[in-house]
Amino acid sequence: AASTFEGPRKVLLAAPRGYCAGVDRAVVAVEKALETYGAPVYVRKEIVHNRHVVETLQEKGVIFVEEADQVPEGALVVFSAHGVSPAVKQMADDRNLQTIDATCPLVTKVHREAVRFARDDFEILLIGHEGHEEVEGTYGEAPDNTTIVNGPWEVDDLQVRNPDQLIWLSQTTLSVDETMETVQKLRERFPKLQDPPSDDICYATSNRQAAIKKVAPNSDLVIVVGSENSSNSVRLKEVAKEYGAARAERVDYANQVDEAWFQDAATIGVTSGASVPEVLVDDVLRLLAEYGYGEVEEIVTAEEDIVFSLPKEIRKALTQAG
Ligand code: F3S
Repeated sequence: AASTFEGPRKVLLAAPRGYCAGVDRAVVAVEKALETYGAPVYVRKEIVHNRHVVETLQEKGVIFVEEADQVPEGALVVFSAHGVSPAVKQMADDRNLQTIDATCPLVTKVHREAVRFARDDFEILLIGHEGHEEVEGTYGEAPDNTTIVNGPWEVDDLQVRNPDQLIWLSQTTLSVDETMETVQKLRERFPKLQDPPSDDICYATSNRQAAIKKVAPNSDLVIVVGSENSSNSVRLKEVAKEYGAARAERVDYANQVDEAWFQDAATIGVTSGASVPEVLVDDVLRLLAEYGYGEVEEIVTAEEDIVFSLPKEIRKALTQAG
């Protein structure tokens, strides 16, 4: 196949990219559950927001359900990395389900903050995307004290009970820049707004965005590998555009890359969301090489060495097994 660009061609590969510690832990937890208990293993919602991961686990005997009440009484269910509200845990208890909680520890941290600030009678402004599973879970910790703020455009019309007792929290996978813009607008309206004890946007989200910010200005096209419902992947595409990529596209698989995108593209930036296995990036790089983009320069903006231990229920089962 011939590219429509005739000069020298190269790839700038963003690092860090791909799997974060929370996704790795959640996927391994499901695999270990399959090994330990055998199929079927039920998982509430997609364990992580990636089509390939979900389909691969389905082939191994995982049954994904929307809600805990679709799991047979007494069966084993895994809660996804995005977390669950107390109401969902209650539903699982009521059905005598055996549960493995694969909620990312960095999401659990935000849940704890919500509980604590609600207890101290704060009103929580939760910056995040309404309808996203993580936001539903965090909201569910303190529904009477929480208002969801989707973005800066919602700040003007926001109603609060007491502007002196306000704290903001956020979803872990947002755009860092847009969130700061929302917070700034909130603070203009509510000068006493308190900050969370530590950043809620997680290290993986910030690192992947920082890396693509370096790559995008020098790229004619940026390809983000990641699924449509993956918040952090979609943000990477937006950030790439904001930072000067002439074009940015998101694909689940290499076969979705359209050769028309290569027109006028001397340099192609590549990255992937936190739920994306590296094999999918390898496929894209192989395809790009076929089109003459065989030279790959990795742009490294941070090293990551964070690892989370497996959910306690799995650690316990593994110890007992041997
Ligand atoms: Fe956790 Fe952040 Fe990954 S919240 S699941 S480490 S994207």
